[in-house]
Amino acid sequence: MASLTDSFKRRFSYLRLSVTDACNFGCSYCLPGGYSRACSPAAPLLPAEIRNLVAAFAQLGVSKVRLTGGEPTLRRDILEIARTISETPGIRTVAITTNGYRLKELAEPLFAAGVTALNVSVDSLDPDVFMRITDARSTPLAKVLSGVDEALRMGFRPIKINVVLLRGMNDSELPSFIEWSRTKPVHIRFIELMRTAQNGDLFAQHHVSTGPLCERLIREGWISKPREMDDGPAREFIHPEFRGSIGIISPYAHGFCESCNRLRVTSRGDLRLCLFGEADEPLRPFLRDSSQRPELIERIRSALKEKPLSHLLNEGKYGNTENLSSIGG
Ligand code: 5AD
Ligand code: SF4
Repeated sequence: MASLTDSFKRRFSYLRLSVTDACNFGCSYCLPGGYSRACSPAAPLLPAEIRNLVAAFAQLGVSKVRLTGGEPTLRRDILEIARTISETPGIRTVAITTNGYRLKELAEPLFAAGVTALNVSVDSLDPDVFMRITDARSTPLAKVLSGVDEALRMGFRPIKINVVLLRGMNDSELPSFIEWSRTKPVHIRFIELMRTAQNGDLFAQHHVSTGPLCERLIREGWISKPREMDDGPAREFIHPEFRGSIGIISPYAHGFCESCNRLRVTSRGDLRLCLFGEADEPLRPFLRDSSQRPELIERIRSALKEKPLSHLLNEGKYGNTENLSSIGG
């Protein structure tokens, strides 16, 4: 089996594919002020282009694809996209990251289309705080939570809940999030806020480091799980009395990038080597026809040689990432 590696011998088996940069929420850390169509003139990749793209990555050894956004379920053809990817030879796992707004009605058809793993953003379990963080017009927390229940019932595994930690907003809710994992097999992942070009003020006010949280979990009897080969960036904690688990993602921690196993493609078909990278490699010109596959593969391989060792966030450089809605985190 072919495999994709970079100059630092990191192996890439995981592709995160953004299918739209539009979102119906306007989370203060991600899309402050909400989505504006004006910032994205070109149309997103079509299912046929996605088929060619994923086939090439699969040929290069990629076995897992995550659909992200913006909010991927805003695409009317999301089920067709999911099916196309899950039917691609070599792809073993199709996952989706969603804000959960349409999850209740989509859990069943998504599962039928071959999506088996799920990440849902739930930044607060308090309806008012949830509304304040997401800037959603009606209070959608109950809707999102019933979507998560439906997904549990359908059999999605794992189900990960993303919580971006915000000082003074949701950092007092740790006990209720942790309690959720006592009886349900949900993996709660606390994510340290990352600085982007658009969220400077919020970052200054609400960034909180994840160190104390790890110490607290250990004090409360949680056990840090040893890292395994294809693990993502979270440090995982388990507890004998809890069905779920807790993960902590600390993008500013030393060595965070060393285990990077992911590549990203934007909704317009640009290969992004690092979330906070400066340069994208346009792949769309090679997605028109499957006969272009050798060229496409060559593009991807040679671009990977340029993948940087680490982001430069600690030096205050966040690349050309205006916000994470354009690339799905
Ligand atoms: N910092 C940390 N996480 C972010 N996300 C979006 N923007 C940021 C940010 N600035 C994460 C959210 C969401 C996922 C799609 O990306 O957790 O769940
Ligand atoms: Fe939308 Fe997710 Fe960004 Fe919130 S974090 S604005 S739900 S893409």
